[in-house]
Amino acid sequence: MKNYLLVGVFFLYFFFIGVSFAEDNVYVGSEACKDCHEQEYENYMKYAKKANSFESIKKMQKKLTPKEYQSCFECHTTGYGKKGGFVSEKETPGLKDAGCEVCHGPGNLHVQSEDPDLITRDVSMENCNTCHSKDRIDAFDFKPLLFGGAH
Ligand code: HEC
Ligand code: HEC
Ligand code: HEC
Ligand code: HEC
Repeated sequence: MKNYLLVGVFFLYFFFIGVSFAEDNVYVGSEACKDCHEQEYENYMKYAKKANSFESIKKMQKKLTPKEYQSCFECHTTGYGKKGGFVSEKETPGLKDAGCEVCHGPGNLHVQSEDPDLITRDVSMENCNTCHSKDRIDAFDFKPLLFGGAH
């Protein structure tokens, strides 16, 4: 009887480890999407300014305090401040530009499973607004349309 209990506890333990891993969806960078979504990847690399968005802030780094520079990461990189997102150019080079996942969400689980349900397909204007905010739109007189700026 005691043994059964022990086995039961063991199973529960691994079950919970499994669940906690399953919830661990993190950012992987655009490069990870390349092999399976060649067309989107090529278009994005070639035409989207997002593909070089880190370059834009790096060019201005000298004129900024470290704190000001850091404030650029929120929009010019992938997943800054979020779990498994951009940390620094050295530590997370694959996340330094605003990549696929700023619109489609973290891709780790989808990349591993190829399950379309584990990635966001329906990207909305609300998502764009987190970076293309109202203040910016007023200040720069530029408002993107939903299907622009991607692929
Ligand atoms: C190992 C292959 C593979 C990789 C890597 C991969 N995908 Fe996919 N993806 C698929 C397959 C298979 C589908 C489902 C079939 C389809 O719609 O083309 C899919 C579908 C999608 C969809 C549509 C989902 C839907 O509900 O229709 C999006 C968006 C997507 N992938 C984005 C990404 C992004 C972003 C990455 C990189 C982070 C990525 N994929 C990496 C294989 C992959
Ligand atoms: C994580 C922040 C972020 C999100 C979310 C985001 N963008 Fe952007 N977007 C940027 C940045 C940063 C640039 C400027 C890149 C540069 O030139 O350095 C940009 C540039 C653009 C441009 C102009 C340049 C180009 O590539 O054509 C368009 C259009 C655009 N975004 C559309 C969109 C749309 C549509 C959405 C939502 C579906 C969206 N963006 C979501 C950060 C974001
Ligand atoms: C709230 C989001 C956000 C923050 C924070 C942000 N940017 Fe941007 N940036 C954008 C978006 C979106 C664009 C695309 C054009 C637009 O909307 O005006 C852009 C465009 C640019 C461009 C123009 C690139 C081009 O192709 O002309 C430069 C340069 C730039 N940002 C530098 C910076 C720097 C430097 C910082 C930090 C001090 C910063 N940005 C902070 C969202 C942001
Ligand atoms: C600026 C936002 C944005 C970025 C960045 C972006 N996408 Fe998308 N993606 C979209 C939108 C919008 C759709 C259309 C969704 C719909 O049909 O409603 C889409 C659709 C898709 C689809 C579904 C098939 C299709 O073409 O309709 C795939 C696959 C995909 N994206 C992959 C990628 C990959 C890979 C990258 C990076 C190389 C990427 N996306 C970057 C906004 C973005």
